[in-house]
Amino acid sequence: MSQPAQESRPQPKAERAPESPAPSSAPSSARSSSRSPAPRPAPETFAAFEAAKGFMPADEGLALYAAAVEAARLGLPLLEVGTYCGRSTLLLADAARDAGVTAVTVDHHRGSEEQQPGWEYHDPDVVDPHTGLMDTVPVFRRTLRAAGLEEHVVAVVGRSPRAAALWGRPLGLVFIDGGHTDEHATADYEGWVPHLARDGLLVVHDVFPDPADGGQAPYRIYRRALDSGAFREISVTRSLRVLRRTGPAL
Ligand SMILES: C[S@@+](CC[C@H](N)C(=O)[O-])C[C@H]1O[C@@H](n2cnc3c(N)ncnc32)[C@H](O)[C@@H]1O
Repeated sequence: MSQPAQESRPQPKAERAPESPAPSSAPSSARSSSRSPAPRPAPETFAAFEAAKGFMPADEGLALYAAAVEAARLGLPLLEVGTYCGRSTLLLADAARDAGVTAVTVDHHRGSEEQQPGWEYHDPDVVDPHTGLMDTVPVFRRTLRAAGLEEHVVAVVGRSPRAAALWGRPLGLVFIDGGHTDEHATADYEGWVPHLARDGLLVVHDVFPDPADGGQAPYRIYRRALDSGAFREISVTRSLRVLRRTGPAL
C-alpha cells in the first residue's frame, strides 16, 4: 500500500484528548438559549459519544454540538462528511432531534488512508472478515441504535463527491471530517459548501495552522473559506473551527 503524503496525515488525535467535561443534567431542549451557557447534549447522548469509537475529544464535540444546535434553528438538514463509527454523528443527531430536522452523514465506510492496516489509526475490530476490508457500518448502526437516535439520521454510504453531486437542497450545517488529503478535503469543500445556506455554519475538523501539529489539507479549505470573504469565524476549539456563511461568494 502506498503511504499518504506526510503532510496529509492528521496529527495523533489520541494525544490531544482532553479531560471530559461533565454534561449538563438539564433537558437538551432547554439548553439552546443564546443567553445560557453553551448548550449541552442530553446526558445519555454525551455518554454514548464518550463511549463510541472515534477520534474527537470531548471539548471539540461540545463545540460541534453547539454549532449544530445553532445551525438547526435554520430548519435545514445538518450534513456530516466522515461518519466513521458515529461518534460525532451522535451529537448532530441530538441537535437534529431537538430542532425537528435531519442529520445526514456521508461515508464510504472503508476508512481513510491513516485508518488502513499498518497505519496508526487502524482498528482491526472494524475489518469485515468476509472481505478483509474495513467496514464501519455495523458499529455505526449499533452506536446510533443504542443511543436511540436512529430516527434522526439519514446515512449515505458512498463517496462524498458522488453524494454531493446528487444533492439538491440547502443545508444548515456542513461538517467536514472525511479524508484528510488535499484531494478529498478539496472535493468535500467544493461538493458541499455551495449547498450551505446563508447564515449556515461550516465546521472543519483537524485544522492545524502549524504544519508541525498536523496535516494541512483541512487548514487549506478553512483558509479558502475565510479568504473567499463569504465566511466569518465564530468559534475555535483546538482543531475544530466554526465559520458562519455571511456572503454569496465562495
Ligand atoms: C476521521 S474519520 C471521521 C471521524 C468521525 N467524524 C468522528 O468524529 O468519529 C474519517 C472518515 O471519512 C471517511 N472518508 C474518507 N474519505 C472519504 C470520501 N472520499 N468519501 C466518503 N467518506 C470518506 C472514512 O471512511 C472515515 O470513516
